Amino acid sequence: MKKRLKHKADSTSSKESTKSKVFTDSKTSEKHQISEFKKIHYLLSRRDKAILTFLLLATFLLSIIETISISIIMPFITFASNPNMILENKFSSMIYNFFGFKNSLDFMIAFSATLIVFYILRSVYNICYSYALNRFAFRKYHFFAYRLFCKSIELSYIDFTNKNVDRIRQNITNEALKVSQYIQQLLMICSEIITIILMYILLLIVSYKMTIVLTIVLTINVILITKTISKKVHKQGIINVETTNAVLKIITKTLGNFKIIKLKGVQEQVLNDFDNASKKRVDSEIIYQTLAPLPRFILETIGFGILIAAVAYILIKDNNATAVIPVISMYALALYRILPALNKTINSYNMTRFYRHALDVIYEDLIYHTEYEDNKPLEFNKTIELKNINFEYKVQKPIIKDFNLVINKGDKIAFIGKSGAGKSTLVDLIIGIYKPKSGEIKIDGVKLNNENLRSWRKKIGYIPQNVFLFDGNILENIALGDEIDKNRAIEVCKKSNIWEFLEQNEGLNTFVGEGGIKLSGGQKQRIAIARALYNNPEILVLDEATSALDKDTESKIMDEIYNIAENKTLLIIAHRLSTIERCERVIDLTKK
Ligand SMILES: Nc1ncnc2c1ncn2[C@@H]1O[C@H](COP(=O)(O)OP(=O)(O)OP(=O)(O)O)[C@@H](O)[C@H]1O
Ligand SMILES: [Mg+2]
Repeated sequence: MKKRLKHKADSTSSKESTKSKVFTDSKTSEKHQISEFKKIHYLLSRRDKAILTFLLLATFLLSIIETISISIIMPFITFASNPNMILENKFSSMIYNFFGFKNSLDFMIAFSATLIVFYILRSVYNICYSYALNRFAFRKYHFFAYRLFCKSIELSYIDFTNKNVDRIRQNITNEALKVSQYIQQLLMICSEIITIILMYILLLIVSYKMTIVLTIVLTINVILITKTISKKVHKQGIINVETTNAVLKIITKTLGNFKIIKLKGVQEQVLNDFDNASKKRVDSEIIYQTLAPLPRFILETIGFGILIAAVAYILIKDNNATAVIPVISMYALALYRILPALNKTINSYNMTRFYRHALDVIYEDLIYHTEYEDNKPLEFNKTIELKNINFEYKVQKPIIKDFNLVINKGDKIAFIGKSGAGKSTLVDLIIGIYKPKSGEIKIDGVKLNNENLRSWRKKIGYIPQNVFLFDGNILENIALGDEIDKNRAIEVCKKSNIWEFLEQNEGLNTFVGEGGIKLSGGQKQRIAIARALYNNPEILVLDEATSALDKDTESKIMDEIYNIAENKTLLIIAHRLSTIERCERVIDLTKK
């Protein structure tokens, strides 16, 4: 599914090669067999696991509190309806004598007060517990989203071109959240199961016969439910992710080609596609939301059905149910807690099925091998040497073959050749966007590798044919992630001859619209030049930067570029010969 860079140009660092070995092993041999738990184990840090253990302990305490809160009701009702029992019961008479109560009323008042305090504390504990749980889950969401974003930024350009931007966006925003919820659901399952077990032990003590009957019936039902409904829910999870992606893709496709879609008049088809994808997505949501509460109804009906049948049975047998009232009320309460707990467990389990796909997706993204690139200082005072460079996108289809070139500092070089000849590819190799399959690039005799690649790229100002300006102001667009320096921005705007125009508007605060829609082609190109100059690059690269402009504007901008680049190294890809007539050397890639 994912293509990996096969060249070995940078496997010199041992750190990398061991890292990549680990990734290769885990990817090739286990990719599909890795269990959910192994994936989670990989996604969680040691600290996370410590917090999880703590949360599990807190869960255990929570379950104990819940069980006490239910079981305490039985003695309370018994003593309230029959005060003699206080002294008859060994345990309660001990407490009665220990605190020296004078009568049963005093005992009952103290008992009631204790119960109220206990229930208040129980609520406080519940709130704290849910805070801790949410905090853990959402911090994890932040962490996953952050790691995914890191990974996408670390992608090599060639890997990036093989990815779908919508999918990356979707994974960072939605799927990461699902994974954190997945972990939250696992904790919920643990919590509910512990509660169920404790309550169950309590019920066994109170009446083992009824409990066993209840167990058999409920177990059969739970198995049936997980086998049928849970499977369906899992399938809907996959459909949901796929259709959400499809919807996003249609939106991006349409909004990105707004003018063309209008001109082609294909609004109906686009709407139709959207209608289909969105409907499918909503359908999966409808099925999920409908199926989710189904187990609850089934379990409640069965559980309370059995309880009512038991009361009816006792009534028929003894014609008097007074003696069993405390037992029955505790049973009712326990069922009231166990059934939702069972239901929550199934629900949480279903949700983990629903989110399972997200876990796979995020795991795949996070183990995806990206190369470590560093900032080791690199000087460029003399030459860029390309030695026997080979490059291909697809195996056996070389684009650049045994290519050699020496560029001296300050050279102005033009690359020409027919479309598809490999001009952009070659320049992208020189500027460190692609890495050669074999051969080497040397800067002042120092080999370009992952250690110094980032330093090298920083020396380059790149002006593409299609500049993408985002919906912000000029300043943000020019700085593009770099530190904001207004004076510097004004300086580069002046150099690229756009300042006059900006002054007539709101200066650096001028908004450009999505994709720079509010600017002309020439103005956009000038912003792109300003952006490229912002870091004071030593090398300027133009990849058909002016070919979309009319001849006059192009020659004006080129004059400006040659002025700006007087002391810089200039690499130009262009079709029009007039654009490159001032270059000292012309390299024709058609003849390579
Ligand atoms: N990311 C990619 N994946 C696969 N093949 C690619 C990729 N980018 C370019 N190619 C192929 O490599 C060849 C050279 O492309 P390149 O963009 O370098 O050509 P070019 O000389 O710049 O052409 P143009 O003048 O049209 O811009 C083309 O056949 C192209 O289809
Ligand atoms: Mg090109």
